[in-house]
Amino acid sequence: MQANQIDLLVYHIGQLVTMQGKKGPRKGHEMSEISMVENGAVAIANGRIIAAGEEKDVRRKISGLSVREELNAQGRLVTPGLIDPHTHLVHAGSREHELELKLKGVSYLEILAMGGGILSTVRATRNATEDELYEKARKSLDLMLLFGATTVEAKSGYGLNLENELKQLRVAKRLNEHHPVEIVSTFMGAHAVPPEYKGRSSEYVDLIVEEMLPEVKRQGLAEFCDVFCEQGEFTVQEARKILSAAKEMGFGIKIHADEIEPLGGAQLAGELGCISAEHLLAATDEGLDAMKRAGVIAVCLPATSFNLRANNHARARKMIEMGLPVALSTDYNPGSSPTESLQFVMTLGCLNLGMTPEEVITAMTINAAYAIGRGDVVGSLETGKQADLVIYNASNLAYLPYHFGINHVDTVIKKGKVVVS
Ligand code: NIG
Ligand code: FE
Repeated sequence: MQANQIDLLVYHIGQLVTMQGKKGPRKGHEMSEISMVENGAVAIANGRIIAAGEEKDVRRKISGLSVREELNAQGRLVTPGLIDPHTHLVHAGSREHELELKLKGVSYLEILAMGGGILSTVRATRNATEDELYEKARKSLDLMLLFGATTVEAKSGYGLNLENELKQLRVAKRLNEHHPVEIVSTFMGAHAVPPEYKGRSSEYVDLIVEEMLPEVKRQGLAEFCDVFCEQGEFTVQEARKILSAAKEMGFGIKIHADEIEPLGGAQLAGELGCISAEHLLAATDEGLDAMKRAGVIAVCLPATSFNLRANNHARARKMIEMGLPVALSTDYNPGSSPTESLQFVMTLGCLNLGMTPEEVITAMTINAAYAIGRGDVVGSLETGKQADLVIYNASNLAYLPYHFGINHVDTVIKKGKVVVS
């Protein structure tokens, strides 16, 4: 990576987590290897990293070049920009009324079966204009950025017909063009069976395969396709049909698998070679083995199990011990996980999934990047990669999950520009 001058030099970094080293998602003990240096610096030009490492080495490497701007990190912690690989960003309305039902013991799937849950958000989203959706999602994206996220995956799935799915995806595209946070779009027409197809899910599956997927592809509005494979939603056979068709059309494929019931979504993820499988609370050993054989990334969503008051959690320790790459995400959505904060997820990753702070930061940077097909561009601070980084009001990594429920972010740099300070 050559540069004539340095646009920004971030120096006097107390702990610099670079995630340099191995290519590809980290698994097993690699998830603890975060390549942290003390007394670090990062030199940036044209939005890209020219050098990142020990300050003395970085300064040596850029000696002779003029430096336009310097930023003193004052001995604090710096990590790569956080990556949220699973969100339902674009939607209308909110569902705080479900809290009371939940406190009375009504389950998530019961609320959905009563026509609430996802379906109430579908009604609100269908009724919303594109500008209304944009404004609401923009506010959430602002919050995500304030909490350290620089790249976010966003799923459709609250339209459940061609017109309204395209509407959601267009909003995500517009946000990607106008907001500092980069958005990676996923088509999730198979998020729920829409009311007009109640009892006729196979016809809805045909509509997805024959009309929706080809049109989304034609308009270039999504890179990935995802399916909610769950009791009462889409069966393994239906998910196989949709995801095989999507793969054939050139989409990357993802699956909400074995969240509540162990239907075999994890096995399907392995069979089809999904890039990632999400949730996985109820995934069996066989399912996890199938994922491992196929190199599927496990995206765990501990804020969702927390918010659904689940008795169990995804078996992240088992996954790490068996060598599955684990990523973490908010699953931001108005029902099962109304939070934009990846920092809260850090705490839950440690306390509820038993992950170490090192494993957690790996799961939210490099592994999350690979889970959305961006491993070559973001997720680590390496020469040539995009200059996305976060400076925290903390001197060490463990402080982030330890001191929970608040925002530790001081400064966010996206593509070499200070976007939060
Ligand atoms: O990932 N599980 C399915 N979809 C979302 C929830 C969406 C909603 O409740 O609105 C999830 O948890
Ligand atoms: Fe989800």
